[in-house]
Amino acid sequence: MQAGMRHFDTSVALGKRLRDLVPGGAHTYAKGPDQYPERSPAILERGRGCRVWDADGNEYVEYGMGLRAVGLGHAYGPVVEAVRASLELGNNFTRPSRTELECAERFLQFVPTADMVKFTKDGSTATSGALKLARRATGRDLVAICVDHPFFSYDDWFIATTTADGGIPSSELGRAVPFSYNDLGSLEQAFDEHPDAIAAVFLEAVRTDAPVPGFLEGVRELCDRHGAVLVFDEMLTGFRYHLRGAQGMYGVTPDLSTFGKAMANGFSLSALAGRRELMELGGRQRPGDDVFLLSTTHGAETPSLVAAMATMNVYESEPVIEHLYRQGERLARGLREVSAAHGLSEHVFPVGFPCNLLFATRGPEGGPSQEFRTLFLQETISRGVLMPSLVDSYSHGDADIDVTLGAIDGALAVYARALEDGVDGYLVGAPSRTVFERRVH
Ligand SMILES: Cc1ncc(COP(=O)(O)O)c(C=O)c1O
Repeated sequence: MQAGMRHFDTSVALGKRLRDLVPGGAHTYAKGPDQYPERSPAILERGRGCRVWDADGNEYVEYGMGLRAVGLGHAYGPVVEAVRASLELGNNFTRPSRTELECAERFLQFVPTADMVKFTKDGSTATSGALKLARRATGRDLVAICVDHPFFSYDDWFIATTTADGGIPSSELGRAVPFSYNDLGSLEQAFDEHPDAIAAVFLEAVRTDAPVPGFLEGVRELCDRHGAVLVFDEMLTGFRYHLRGAQGMYGVTPDLSTFGKAMANGFSLSALAGRRELMELGGRQRPGDDVFLLSTTHGAETPSLVAAMATMNVYESEPVIEHLYRQGERLARGLREVSAAHGLSEHVFPVGFPCNLLFATRGPEGGPSQEFRTLFLQETISRGVLMPSLVDSYSHGDADIDVTLGAIDGALAVYARALEDGVDGYLVGAPSRTVFERRVH
C-alpha cells in the first residue's frame, strides 16, 4: 500500500493551542505529542466502530482504542442508546440512585468472586483505594509491586517508584518493594526482607506472558502465609482476556481486584471489588470502619453506570472476547508473515496475548528503538492506520485487519531501507519518548 498524501495542518495547529493551555498537551501523558511522530494526527474529531477521523478529515483504522477504554467500538449503538435514554432522567442526585444498585448487582454477577464493589471514575483511584484498605486492614505501610507491570496508579505510592517523582514527599519514597512476575522466589525474598511490613501485593495476574503453572497459586499462598492482601489489577484483563477477568481465567481469587478501562466502553468508570470484611472497612457501619473509601461528587453519575450495564450485556450475550482473540491472532500471524517477507522477523514482531496485542520495534543493533518505533508509527499513519499497539475491539472486522496488514507491509518496506541507510533520512522530527522509567526494579 502506498503512503497517502495526508496533511495534518489543522490538527497540528490545534495541537499547539492545546499544548499552550494544557500541561503535557493531553489529559493522559500517553496520548501526548511526545508519544507520536511529528507527522501524525495531533487532534482527533470523532470515531465510529474501529475508525477515527482527525481534524484535517483524515480517516484511520485505530488500535489501542482510547488507551483500551473502548472494547466494543466507538459510538457503539446499544451503549449510546442506553446512555441517551438515561440522560432524560437526570444524571446526579442528592441521594443514591436506583442505577447504582442495579449496576452493583450486575457487576457482582460478572465478578462472582467479589462480595462488594465500589465504583469510581478512574483506575488509579480504584487501585489507591485498594492499597488504603490493605494498609488499614494490616496496620502495615509497605506495598509489594510487580516490576514487570508498568502502571498501577497516578497516585504517589506508585509514581514514587518512577523517574516522574517530582512533588512527592520523601516519606513516600522507599515504601514499594519490588518482585518479578513468574518468580515466586522474588516475592518470598520481599516478604523475608520485610517481615510483617508488607500490606499488599499488587500485580496483573496476566499481561504479556502467561503465568507459569503454580505461580498465581503460589502468590496467593505467600500472601496468606504472611498476612498480606492480594490485589489483582484487572484494568486490562477485565473485559478483554476473559469474561470473568484473569481471576476467572486462572481460578485464583484475590482479596481485592480493580477494574476499569473497557468496563463502560469508554465512559468514565472503574471499580474496586473484593471480600466483604475488607470492603466494609470503608462502610461506616461499625466502629473501626473508618477508611474514607472512594467518595467523590461524580462517583456514581448515572450515564457511566448505564454505559457499564449496557457494555456488560453485550459482553455476555455476544462473542466479544472470542472476537478480540480471533482478530488479534490474525494480526499477529499477518504481522509475522509480512515481517518475514521483508527480512525483518528479528526487528518487528508481535508481543503478548492476541486480545491485547503489542509489537516490538528493534533497531540495527537488535535492541528496542524509539527511533524505529516512531518511524513505524509515522509510516503506518501515512497509510491510514493509527497503531501505537495492535489492541483491537469488537468492531475490528476482517476488512480492517486487511487494511492494517497492507499498511504494515508498506511501512516495513521503509523500515527495511532505514535499517540499511540510517533512520535519519526517513524519520521526520524527533523520536517519541517514554512517559517515565521505573526507579524501583
Ligand atoms: C494496569 C493498569 N492499572 C491502573 C491503571 C490506571 O488507570 P487510570 O488511567 O484509569 O487511572 C492503568 C492505566 O493505564 C493500567 O493499565
